[in-house]
Amino acid sequence: MVDKTLTHLSWDDFDEHRDPRPAGNQFDAVVERAISRRGFLGGALAFGSGAAVFGAGLMSSTTASRAAGQAKFAFEAIGIATDHEIHVPAGYKSQVLVRFGDALWSEADNAYSPESAVSVEMSDKVFGENTDGMELFVIDGKEVIVVNSEYANPKINLPDAPDGVPQSADQVQILKNIQGVTVMEIAMGETGYQVVKDSPFNRRITHETEMTLAGPLAGHDLVKTNADPEGRTVKGTMNNCGSGKTLWGTYLTCEENFNGYFGNTAEMPEGEGYIRYGIGGESRYAYEKFDERYDLSKEPNEPHRHGFVTEINPADASSTPVKRTALGRIKHENAEMVLAADNRVVVYMGDDERGEYLYKYVSNGVYTEGSSTEGLLDDGQLYVAKFNDDLSGEWLALTPETTGMELAEILCFTRMAASAAGGTTMDRPEWVACNPLKAEGYCALTNNSKRGADAKNAGGDDMSPNAANPRETNEYGQIVRWTPAGEDHAAEGFTWDLYVMAGNPEVYDNVYGGSENVTAGNMFNSPDGMAFSSDGMLWIQTDGDDSNEGDFAGQGNNQMLVGDPETGEIARFMTVPNGAEVTGLCWSADKKVAFVGVQHPGGSWPDGNGMPRSSIVAVWREDGALIG
Ligand code: FEO
Ligand code: CA
Ligand code: CA
Ligand code: CA
Repeated sequence: MVDKTLTHLSWDDFDEHRDPRPAGNQFDAVVERAISRRGFLGGALAFGSGAAVFGAGLMSSTTASRAAGQAKFAFEAIGIATDHEIHVPAGYKSQVLVRFGDALWSEADNAYSPESAVSVEMSDKVFGENTDGMELFVIDGKEVIVVNSEYANPKINLPDAPDGVPQSADQVQILKNIQGVTVMEIAMGETGYQVVKDSPFNRRITHETEMTLAGPLAGHDLVKTNADPEGRTVKGTMNNCGSGKTLWGTYLTCEENFNGYFGNTAEMPEGEGYIRYGIGGESRYAYEKFDERYDLSKEPNEPHRHGFVTEINPADASSTPVKRTALGRIKHENAEMVLAADNRVVVYMGDDERGEYLYKYVSNGVYTEGSSTEGLLDDGQLYVAKFNDDLSGEWLALTPETTGMELAEILCFTRMAASAAGGTTMDRPEWVACNPLKAEGYCALTNNSKRGADAKNAGGDDMSPNAANPRETNEYGQIVRWTPAGEDHAAEGFTWDLYVMAGNPEVYDNVYGGSENVTAGNMFNSPDGMAFSSDGMLWIQTDGDDSNEGDFAGQGNNQMLVGDPETGEIARFMTVPNGAEVTGLCWSADKKVAFVGVQHPGGSWPDGNGMPRSSIVAVWREDGALIG
C-alpha cells in the first residue's frame, strides 16, 4: 500500500519519515557539546557575548576582510520577503522565461491548463516540472539551455487523482514524462529571452529515454535485468537534481533521490545495499503497481542502474545519453568539473543525505582540446574526502585494497566503499562550485537535523560533530571550502576552512548565530545551489525553512545571495515566492542575463490563477551592464 501522505512530502521530509531524528536534543546540551569542540575551532570561540567569534584558522580570510571592510558588490543588497513575488535589487528586472507545461513544440501550444495540467500525449512535449540544475551552451551561434526537472508534484500534476496518487498507467506515465531533462534553444526577442519553439535542439529526456551504461560497472551481473540481460542499456534517468558542464561542451545531469521511485509488490530482495540507499518499503508514486521496472520483487537490479552522473550531448537531439558509472553511484547532487595541473579531468560530487560524503573523481587520461575525450569519464580513480580537525584534509582513494570490495561493487555501492575507506560524514553535501580564479572548491552542506553525539548515518558511521560539521542538530548549514595541495585539483592533500556557517544572530548568541560574516541583514538557512560567475563571485541559493518564525525569524523566503571569496562578505541579491526554493543558475552568452530556477513555488505564482508553476526566471540590469 502506498502511504498517500508520502507523495506530498519534500525529499528532505521523506528521509526524516524513514529515519526520524533522535528525540531529546535539548538546546543546553547542544551548546555544551559545541563548547567542548572549541579546540577544533581554533580555540577562540566565544559564547554568550554577542556574535560568535571564530578562530583565526577556521575563518581567516573572512575575519581579515571584515577589518578591511571592502565591499565589491555591484548591487545594493535587498531585504527579506515573505510574499509570493520575486524581488531583485534596484536597477534590476526579472521576467519568467518558461514555466512547467509551456510548449517546446508548436503542437503543444496550450497543452497546459490549471484545471487539468497536461495530458499524457502532451506530457513529454512541454517544459518539465520542478526545474533544477541547468547550464547554457552556445552551439552553432545559438544559445541552448539544458535543465533538469527533478521530480513531480502529483497533487498539482494530476488534479484528477485523489490526493495525487496515480490510479492508472497513463497517470504514472504523465509523472514520468514531466521529469528528466529539457534541452531548449532560447533567443532574445523584442520582449526579452524566449524559448525557440520547434528548434532542432529541443528535446525531452525522461524516465523512458534509452541510455547507455558505460564504465567498469557496465555489463556486470549487478546491473542485468530481464529487459537488459547484457546490463548495458538502461531506460531513463530520474530525480535529476544538480548539473555540470564538461570541458568538451556536454551536459552532466545528476541522479539524486532515485531510491524513492522503487517499491515492491511481493518479496523484498535482501541486501545491505538496499538499506544503505533507502530502497524498499513504500515507494513515493506507486509506479511499481503499473510498471514492473520499478517493482523490486520482479527487477531487484533496476535500482542499481540509477544514481549516476549521466552525460548528454546538447548539440545532437538524437544522441544517446551515457551513464558514467566510474563516477560512482550515490544520491548525486551536482558534478563540478575542473582540470588538474597535468590536464587530467577532476569532478567533484556531493552525496546529499545526512552523514554521507563528498567525493572526487580523477581521470587517468588527460584532456586535450579538440582531441577525443573517450574514456575520460570511464577510466579513473574515485576518492572520498576526509576532513581533519587540524584543517588539513585527504582524498582517500576507493580501491579494492582500501575498501575490501571489487571495483564494480565500489561503483555500485559507493557509499559502503566510502564508509570502509573512512571518509568524513558530512551535513548533507549539496552543490560543489570551484573558483575560476584560483584552485579552490566550495561545497554547500545544507543542514543535518540528526548530527549529534551517538548519531549514525544510514551505514552506521559516526555522525557526532566533527570540525567541518561542528554543530549538533544543525538546522542552518555551512559552506566548507578547500585549497588542493600545490594548487592542483588532482592532489591527494588539501587544506580547508568554513567559508560561512549560516545561523540566526537575532535568536542565538552562540554558534547557532552563525559565523561573523552572517548578520541580521544577510542571514539565511540551508545553502544548496552554488555557482561562480566569471568574475569570481560565489552565488549561493537556498532551499530551507521559509516560515520566517522561531529559529528562522527574520530570514524570510528562500533567496539567492552573492559571496565574495576574498573578503567573506555576503549580500542578498534575490528572494523567491514563499514555498519555493532557488535552484539552478546559468548566464546568457554575453553575461548580461542570469537565468535562475524557482522550484516548487507556493501560492499561485507566477500566473495568479490558483495553481503554482515551477519556472525559470531571467534577471538583468536595466542599464545593460554585465551580471555574471
Ligand atoms: Fe535535489 Fe539535494 O537537492
Ligand atoms: Ca539541491
Ligand atoms: Ca529540492
Ligand atoms: Ca536541498
